[in-house]
Amino acid sequence: MRSLWSVYRSAGPLALLNLYPIQHRDTPHNNPNIPFAFTPDNMKRAQEIISRYPPQYKKAAVIPLLDLGQRQNKGWTSISVMNYVAKMLEMPPMRVYEVATFYTMFNREAIGENLVQVCTTTPCMLRGSQEILDTICNQLGGIKPGETTKDGKFTVIEVECQGACSNAPMLVVGDDFYEDLTPETTKTIVEAFAAGNKPKAGPQSGRYTSENSAGLTALTTPPYGPGDFCSPEFR
Ligand code: FES
Repeated sequence: MRSLWSVYRSAGPLALLNLYPIQHRDTPHNNPNIPFAFTPDNMKRAQEIISRYPPQYKKAAVIPLLDLGQRQNKGWTSISVMNYVAKMLEMPPMRVYEVATFYTMFNREAIGENLVQVCTTTPCMLRGSQEILDTICNQLGGIKPGETTKDGKFTVIEVECQGACSNAPMLVVGDDFYEDLTPETTKTIVEAFAAGNKPKAGPQSGRYTSENSAGLTALTTPPYGPGDFCSPEFR
């Protein structure tokens, strides 16, 4: 999660206003008169989520329900989504706005089909995240962090640490992490998304997770099995 200030510093005021507007202003594409309702499948899912909490505490479901609404609403949480969730959980709408404006994973403005989040916090920065960010922005026609491509396919933003520092530099698209990036592997990933494909998530270096890339240096022999080193009657 990032603070508004960190977004402002890293992406500039325009990005801040685009994705994290300080105040809601009705616009033709984001106003309370635009209808929103869960699909039958999402309604079932929402009811299951609400059922996890005692009825008097059903407002505890606000974050998963906003998330569900955002996913249904093409990746962003409009005022209609927030009002709908407030009504469903019998909460004052302001309480829902407070949650949605606090957590930066709720996008309060429309985003592109693919939201590319590039981590630029210190470990990723030391491993070349600026080059990764520049590669993506150049590949997408020179857009800047916080902007969306003209065809609506990509929005690029900078984010703070995503907890994958051992695989720095990294980026996130949707729910997936792309790690151990180089400018070349980054280009391949963006090309795949541009072609409508989903590239394989995880480390792009051949590592399985975050194991030592130079190979094992400890625990190099198979672990002993059950019964080993026991007297015969216990084997
Ligand atoms: S600094 Fe980038 S994932 Fe932690």
